[in-house]
Parts: sequence; C-alpha cells; structure tokens
Amino acid sequence: MMNDNPTDALAPLIQSDSSRPYVVAQLGQSLDGRIATPTGASKYINGHGALDFLHHIRANVDAVIVGVGTVLADDPLLTVRRVSGKNPARIIIDPNGRLPRTAKCLSCEDADVYVVSNRQNYDINALKLLHVPSTKDGIDPRAIVNSLFDRGLRRILVEGGANTVSRFIAAGVVDRLYLLVAPMLLGSGQTGLMMPPIDTLDEALRPTTRCYSLGDGDVLFDCCFKN
Ligand SMILES: NC(=O)c1ccc[n+]([C@@H]2O[C@H](COP(=O)([O-])OP(=O)(O)OC[C@H]3O[C@@H](n4cnc5c(N)ncnc54)[C@H](OP(=O)(O)O)[C@@H]3O)[C@@H](O)[C@H]2O)c1
Repeated sequence: MMNDNPTDALAPLIQSDSSRPYVVAQLGQSLDGRIATPTGASKYINGHGALDFLHHIRANVDAVIVGVGTVLADDPLLTVRRVSGKNPARIIIDPNGRLPRTAKCLSCEDADVYVVSNRQNYDINALKLLHVPSTKDGIDPRAIVNSLFDRGLRRILVEGGANTVSRFIAAGVVDRLYLLVAPMLLGSGQTGLMMPPIDTLDEALRPTTRCYSLGDGDVLFDCCFKN
C-alpha cells in the first residue's frame, strides 16, 4: 500500500532510543538503480517532494555524513533550507586529503564540521579531525558512528554518495535506508548501492519496507533493517 505522508517515515528516527546511535541513510536513484549519467549529471533525478524530504531528514539528525567524492562532485552545503530546523554537524570522510578547503560545506558557522581520516598527519587547519583507524576495507563505519556518538552526535544521516552509503549498509550499522526512486530510466551511468557479492538469495538483505508517495511520481521506499 502507498502512504501519502512521507514525513511519517521519520517517526522511528525522531522517537529513537537515546541510549544508542540511530543511523539512517538515503539515496535518490532512477528506476534502474542509477544515481548519475556517465558524464556525472545527477541534478535533479528526484523532484521537489524528494528534496523536501531530504531536508526533513537533515532537520531531524545531529550529524550528516558524506564521502569526499560527493563534495568534489556536487559541493553541497548540507544545510536545512527547504524546511525549518537546525543545521546538523557535517562529517566528511576524507582518508586521502582530497577535500578542497574552499568547499561550501566548510563555511557554515552554526554547525560543527568534522573530517574523518585514518591519517594522524591530516592537514586540518581550522577543521576538527576525527581520527579513525582503517581496516583492510577502509575506515570502519561502526567506528565512525561510535566516535560521533561519543561526541553527542547520536542521530546520524549517511547522505551519500553511493560508495559511502554502501559501506555503511554492508557494515551493518544502518537502521533505515530511505530509497527515493524517480520514474526515470537512465540505462547507463553510475550505479547506486554496490555491496560485496552474494551467491544465493538467502544471503540477500530483506528490510521491512513501506512505500510513500513523494509527488512527481517519485516513491520513497522506507527500508527498515533493525526493528
Ligand atoms: N543520489 C543521491 O542521493 C546522491 C547523494 C550524494 C551524492 N550523490 C552522487 O554520488 C556521486 C559521488 O559518490 P561516490 O560514491 O563516487 O563517492 P562518495 O561516496 O561521496 O565518496 C567516496 C569516497 O569517500 C571516501 N570514503 C567514504 N567512506 C569511506 C570509508 N569507510 N573508508 C575509506 N574511505 C571512505 C573514499 O575516499 P578516497 O577515494 O579518497 O579513498 C571514497 O572513495 C556524485 O556523482 C554525487 O552527485 C548522489
């Protein structure tokens, strides 16, 4: 059944138990699971309702995480602008020091900005460094979440891109995935989620899922991994 009020999907996040981190992830994609064309064009796969919903999520979290690839591609502000609410802290995962110091997300004065790196010698200037050691698969998402929780940042949005969201889901730290699907076929281009391969359908993740209309034909799949 399709539900009409997508902000209802935020109730579990808003009401989540304060004793542990609550992690949501989001991804906007086409019907065929693409987030950009081969040339990187991605603005805007989703319509206004989906953008409003993204800002509603931001307004209800303490921190928003992006990978450095998203900053380099989109230079996002990561603020709450389309709805009322407080700007969350911005967390940029940048193991290799690729973050431009001119990035717009570094300029907001009413929210903390942290850079996550596995390097002790990250050139930090005025930024706050979250040093998180790596495993063979990169920086452990669970260690990032725990480190944020220790700093009072409990409700966390993993906003993108696909690489970063995939790592957090594969690590088993995501409570809910909000998948915003647009009625569009790109046929080629950057894929959305990409996780380690599985051999049988028994190994597939099967979140409990509800659907909401976002308008413009966009559909929100609210996928719950942990009840
Ligand atoms: N559709 C949407 O909802 C949405 C949302 C956001 C972004 N986007 C799009 O997504 C694209 C960018 O996404 P992307 O997947 O290429 O990049 P991304 O996820 O933004 O960033 C990936 C990079 O971040 C670093 N990283 C993230 N997690 C890490 C970890 N656990 N351990 C170590 N390094 C980690 C790595 O940096 P290094 O490479 O330096 O090692 C990695 O290559 C852009 O086209 C953007 O427009 C779409």
